[in-house]
Amino acid sequence: MGILDEDIARVRETTDIVALIGEHVALKRSGGRFTGLCPFHGEKTASFSVNAALGFYYCFGCQESGDAITFVRKIEGLDFAEAVERLAAKAGVTLRYDSAGATQDRRKKERLTETVSAAVEYYHRLLLEDASGGHARGYLRSRGFDGDAARQFSLGWSPDGYDTLVRHLYTLKFSRDDIVAAGLAFVNRAQKAQDFFRARLLFPIFDRAGAPVGFGGRTLTDDGPKYKNTMDTPLYHKSRLLYGLNWAKAEIGARDEVVICEGYTDVMGFALAGIPNAVATCGTALADDHVQILKSFTRHVVLAYDADSAGQNAAEKWYQWEQRFDIEVKVAALPNGQDPGDVFKDDPAALVKAVEGASRFAQFKIDRVLATADMTTPEGKARAADQVVPVLREIPNELVREQYIQMVSGTLGIEHGWFKQAIARRGAPRPRGDDTGERRPPPVTVDRREEDALRWAIHQPELVVDWLESSLFVDPVAREAFEHLWSADELHEAIEGAEGPARSLLERLAVEEPIADDEPETVRARLVVNIVRPAAERLQEEFRRTGDERLSELTVLLDQLRNSAGAGWAGGEAAAMQLVRCIPSWTTS
Ligand code: UTP
Ligand code: MN
Repeated sequence: MGILDEDIARVRETTDIVALIGEHVALKRSGGRFTGLCPFHGEKTASFSVNAALGFYYCFGCQESGDAITFVRKIEGLDFAEAVERLAAKAGVTLRYDSAGATQDRRKKERLTETVSAAVEYYHRLLLEDASGGHARGYLRSRGFDGDAARQFSLGWSPDGYDTLVRHLYTLKFSRDDIVAAGLAFVNRAQKAQDFFRARLLFPIFDRAGAPVGFGGRTLTDDGPKYKNTMDTPLYHKSRLLYGLNWAKAEIGARDEVVICEGYTDVMGFALAGIPNAVATCGTALADDHVQILKSFTRHVVLAYDADSAGQNAAEKWYQWEQRFDIEVKVAALPNGQDPGDVFKDDPAALVKAVEGASRFAQFKIDRVLATADMTTPEGKARAADQVVPVLREIPNELVREQYIQMVSGTLGIEHGWFKQAIARRGAPRPRGDDTGERRPPPVTVDRREEDALRWAIHQPELVVDWLESSLFVDPVAREAFEHLWSADELHEAIEGAEGPARSLLERLAVEEPIADDEPETVRARLVVNIVRPAAERLQEEFRRTGDERLSELTVLLDQLRNSAGAGWAGGEAAAMQLVRCIPSWTTS
C-alpha cells in the first residue's frame, strides 16, 4: 500500500537535492560534491557531503545518510509518505497511490480538512458578529485582544447549544462520519452527533502548511477544564503540534530564532507585541520531535515559559538538547508568575525586552539564585554560594563551567577554588551515556583498493562493468555491497536492498567521488591490478594449503603481475586480466 514506486522514483529524479539540503545547510561545492556542516550532529568542520548527481548525502562524522526523501523525513520529522508528498508538492509531481485504500485515506484527509475549515469559519463568524459571541468578545478585550487580533488568529465562539455546529455543517452537506472523524462532534447515547465544543472561546490550530486541523477551546466560566482540545484525529496529533508554526515559520527563519511558549494566548501576545516568531507546545512538554522540527528553521531557541516553570525544568534536558541537536537555548526573563499572555496585556514592550534580554540557561539559573541572596552579610553570601554549586555543577562543558565559576566567585567575593572543591565534593553529575545522543558505530571501512573499485563501480560503472566480479572482492562486506550494486537497476535500489555494514559502505561511497587523476585507461588498469592482486594472493594461500594443482599456474600469472607492477599499470593489466578470467572459476570450485 502506498505511493506508486514509479512516482517515488520520479520525485527523487525531479528533486534537486542540493537545493533541498541547501535550505538547511550552507553547502560549498568541492569537485563533484557539496559539503557543509552536518545538520544531524553538532560540528565545527564540514563532514557532511552531498552528491548531486546521485542524489545522496552522507556525513563522515555521524554516518547519517540517505537521499532527498530520507533527508526530509529526518529533518522535518515526517514519515515516509509524508516526506514523499512534501517533495512531490515542491517538484510539482502528481502522486498516484497503488491501492484504493491509500487513495481513500488521502481523500478522507482532504474531506476532514474541509470540514474543519467550515467549522473555523462558522465559529469565527459567531464570535465576530453573533449576539451569542458578545461575552467572548468582551473577555478578549479584557485581555487586550481586539477584533483585529480575533481575525488574525481566526478565533471563534462555540455557542451553548448541543448540536449547533453539526446542524450547520449538515446544511453544507458535510457527512456525520466526517464531522465526527474530524473531532468536531461525538455520537451521543441517543446515537446523534453532538457538538464537541460548547460555550468555549476557540483557538483554531493549523498545521505547518496553514491547514486547520483542530481547536483549543477555553472556558470562560469556572466549569470544567480550562481548555478542551480536539482529540487526536487523522489530521491532528497533539504530541507533534506546535501552535502558531504556520504563521511563525517565515519569521523564525528570518530572525534565526524561535520563541517557545506554553499556550495559545502567549503566542498571540508575542505576535501582537512584535515577536511573530513564537510557537507554543500547548500543554505538552517540549519533546524531541518538536526540537527536531524547529531545528530545521533555526538553532536559536528562546524559552518563554513563566519564570518559575522555566527554572524548574530539568537543566539536564536542555543541556542534552543543546549538545544533541546543536542548538542554543536561552531563557526569556519574564516577571515571576506571569506568562507572556498576561504580560502582553499590561506591557507589550516588556515582552520584547524579555526576549531581547534572554540569557543562556546556566546564566538564567544562576541569576535566579543570586537574585534572592542576601549579599550584605557573610551568612547570606555563604548560603548563596551553597545554592549555586549544584547549578554550576550541572554545566556539562568544562570551559563554560569554569567561566561561570569565575563570574560567581567575583560576584560573591568567594574564592574560585572553593567552588571547584565544592563541585568536586559532590561528584560529577550522573553519567548519562554519550553526550551526543546514541553512540554511533564507526564508519565501515574495507581494503582501500576494494573500496576504490566499488567507488568506480558506483560512479563510473562503464570502467568496470565488463570485468569486475564479486569473487574478486576479498572483504565480505565489500563483496556483499558489490553484489547488491550489480543485481540492482539503480543505486537506490541497491542501497535499499543492502543491510548493515554493506549498506553503510554503499551509502558512504555514493557521495565519494572517485579520484580521476589519470586517463580512464590507466585508471582501469590500476583498478584491475589492484583488485586482482589481493584476490589472487588469497587464492594462492589457499592453493598452497590444500595442495591444489593449479597453484603453479596461478603463481606464474601472479608473478607476471608483480613484476610488471613497477612498469606502470598498463604493464600489469594483461596478466591481471588473465587472472580476472581464472579467479572466478577457481574460487567457486
Ligand atoms: P495555561 O494554563 O498556561 O493557559 O496552559 P494559558 O495559555 O495561559 O491560557 P490563558 O492565558 O489562561 O487563557 C498553557 C497551555 O496548556 C494547554 C493549552 O494549550 C494552554 O494554552 N492546556 C492548559 C490544556 O490543554 N488544557 C488545560 O486544561 C490547560
Ligand atoms: Mn495565560
